[in-house]
Amino acid sequence: MAQSSPSEIIASFKSAGQEQVFAYFEELSPDAQEALLAEAAEIDLEEIARLKRELIDSDHGAAVDLTDLEPAAYEKLPENGGNGAAWAEAAEVGEEALRAGRVAAFTVAGGQGTRLGYDGPKGTFPVTPVKQKTLFQVFAEKIAAAGKRYGTTIPWLIMTSHQNHAATESFFRDHAFFGLAESQVKFFRQGRMPAVDLDGKIMLESKGHIAMSPDGHGGSLRALARSGSLDFLAEQGIDIISYFQVDNPLIRIIDPAFIGWHVLGQSEMSSKTVPKAYAGEKVGHFCTQRGQTVVVEYSDLPTELQEETDDAGELRYLAGSIAIHVLDREFVRRLAQGGEPLVGTVQAAQSLPFHRANKKIPTVDASGETVKPSEPNGVKFEMFVFDALPFAKNPVIIETRRADDFSPVKNAEGVDSPATCRDDQLRQFARWANAHGAGLAVDDSGLPAVGFEVAPSFGYDEASFADSWEAADPKPTIADGTVLE
Ligand code: UD1
Repeated sequence: MAQSSPSEIIASFKSAGQEQVFAYFEELSPDAQEALLAEAAEIDLEEIARLKRELIDSDHGAAVDLTDLEPAAYEKLPENGGNGAAWAEAAEVGEEALRAGRVAAFTVAGGQGTRLGYDGPKGTFPVTPVKQKTLFQVFAEKIAAAGKRYGTTIPWLIMTSHQNHAATESFFRDHAFFGLAESQVKFFRQGRMPAVDLDGKIMLESKGHIAMSPDGHGGSLRALARSGSLDFLAEQGIDIISYFQVDNPLIRIIDPAFIGWHVLGQSEMSSKTVPKAYAGEKVGHFCTQRGQTVVVEYSDLPTELQEETDDAGELRYLAGSIAIHVLDREFVRRLAQGGEPLVGTVQAAQSLPFHRANKKIPTVDASGETVKPSEPNGVKFEMFVFDALPFAKNPVIIETRRADDFSPVKNAEGVDSPATCRDDQLRQFARWANAHGAGLAVDDSGLPAVGFEVAPSFGYDEASFADSWEAADPKPTIADGTVLE
């Protein structure tokens, strides 16, 4: 596409009714003018006009369509009535795919981490009980250990934002990529969207800057394509992308059974679920709607549905989304390009919808000063990766144990905080060790009396831990402060 000249950009904003973006243009230095023009050029004005019509002007943008909603079916764990032989086969098929080098890891790390109140990329937050390893270090070591186990190199894609890209890259450089090869790790930035006011006007954060923010983790699909990451994977014969969030150190990044279910199901997008811990838990809900799999966010599912129970007294909408997926490479490419709809569906185009969120957005007042509002004064637009599910052929959902895969760090205190995550790691380590006769004292919740740590190089899941433990001679003794590595 030919680059537009400054006057063309300004004219296009004017004809779209967005000339306020250039209200202070004449006051800016030439460099600042150039920076503002560059931001403006990132914006798809037609897209903004459409979002204004669909999500701001029309009522229908306000409510999510809940008609014909049913809970989604999923593959139950053997201990909950699932088919043990099928799970064993899935694990074998997943291991084969890993040994064949078909798998890459992918972290979405472009979020702003506002709730945690931590200044810096969230992946640089320390989480482990003894060594205080950061989230990024835990993931790096798990990826290295899994690669070693399967005799392959597992590339790691990391999506950052404009805000944290440079800090993320330099963190990895400063720590020598935690032992991974530099060529194994690929960083790329996600896209941005401008905030608009309640009339759909693009907002200025200051005289020379548009209020831009990340376009949501759903933006990862476009960004994977645009950054050349899909080609990078294709060149290496990789077609399976193991997707996870930056906030969850418990995750089995490389899970053979999950990969195997995905492969055996000829699925384009597979997901893990845990039964919700309680009716109002703040997770998405796996549902079906007119033959398609969808995730309905906690904020969109009415309380009566969140609390509804079946004849056995169990929550009907039990299957919570923990934001762990496996994606097929060419499925991502198709969605990023907005390809043809699947045969037999009623979808117009295969691109992810945007969601609106009302936010307090610092913006310039009539005198050009930036002010922080006390009430929501504008709208941000975000895409969610789980909105890709309705577009996927043969989506598979499998159950996982929370203790094996999910303990995110989201809040400074209370649920999903550094303290709960630390305890969950300790419970996991103690469970692995006690399964092999370590004899650690634990309380009713499984929390050990001693603080210790298992490095991913020793064990990053039950199976790898078991192998290291069996091979160890003498067996390790575990005391307060022990690190098994
Ligand atoms: C998310 C899910 C929820 C799920 C829960 C599990 C949404 C809307 N909800 O909630 O269904 O049950 O996680 O933990 O996603 N990110 C980006 N770019 C962005 C925005 C986010 O990369 O523009 C990344 C973050 O860095 C993080 C992840 O996406 O890794 C999750 O973002 P967050 O906003 O914390 O999601 P939650 O509301 O906690």
